[in-house]
Amino acid sequence: MSLHTGQQDADVVRTVAVNPFLGAANPVPGMDNPLPKHRLPDGPMPPDTAYQVIHDELMLDGNARLNLATFVTTWMEPQAGVLMAECLDKNMIDKDEYPQTAELERRCVAMLADLWNAPDPDNTVGCSTTGSSEACMLAGLALKRRWMARNRERYEAGARPNLVMGINVQVCWEKFCNFWEVEPRMVPMEGERYHLDPADAAALCDEDTIGVVAILGSTFDGSYEPVWDVCTALDELQERTGLDIPVHVDGASGAWSRPSSTRSCAGTSASPGWPPSTPPGTSTAWCTRASAGRCGATGRRCRRNWCSR
Ligand SMILES: Cc1ncc(COP(=O)(O)O)c(C=O)c1O
Repeated sequence: MSLHTGQQDADVVRTVAVNPFLGAANPVPGMDNPLPKHRLPDGPMPPDTAYQVIHDELMLDGNARLNLATFVTTWMEPQAGVLMAECLDKNMIDKDEYPQTAELERRCVAMLADLWNAPDPDNTVGCSTTGSSEACMLAGLALKRRWMARNRERYEAGARPNLVMGINVQVCWEKFCNFWEVEPRMVPMEGERYHLDPADAAALCDEDTIGVVAILGSTFDGSYEPVWDVCTALDELQERTGLDIPVHVDGASGAWSRPSSTRSCAGTSASPGWPPSTPPGTSTAWCTRASAGRCGATGRRCRRNWCSR
């Protein structure tokens, strides 16, 4: 969620400009007074008028179907929108009150785990989140806690954990590093390459590295980051130095589209050495973001846990 820092004084006293058809030219809605912009109005307003005022103001936002970035939604079936509207009044964090929602989430986790050839899809651990950012926070935290458990004495003596990623990562990873006090180690892009370079990533790793982040759909150009090669580079690093660095794959749109559109992917992910790539994020272009938050923290060679979103 973005931070709001308040308005300029001049803006606070302004009113909302309302379409005349909702006011003077149309007596039915009964809206005689201009609406204050930053205060509750003194009197009530017909629901239709309230709807139309907000609806009109939101027209100033962009149009998702015209935005082809990898991490935004373009369209989904209207029935999915109806389902989402039907669930708006649920407090989904309360799994006791809404057990069937929890059951559907559990099935989604199993489906995603199966999609990515997790070793035991039906018993894969997972949870839903509100968007990919929360998922990435959980995944990063899992990486940090594992590192802390492995390095308890050094951590207590002041060692500072770091996370290796390309400068093309989505901004939530920088936020993760800020919030959870992890040093971000950014691998630069070079020439026409707009995604992570495996050798450069491995070169930035040391004993305080909690993991390497790879994205299936670079935020710069949508290209898949070379997860296999990153894992291979980290395996070589382990052979040389003994350092065992896990990988987190930030699914983005590719975590949905790759297994379904690229046949080789399903076979590849079952191969030894390939991490069970994380479940897809919200960033898919096939379904509205709010409905699809999932997170996965995985590691090399299927050894790490899945925390799901
Ligand atoms: C690769 C990637 N990771 C994380 C995020 C964060 O997702 P959200 O905006 O749903 O929190 C996005 C999308 O914005 C993304 O594209």
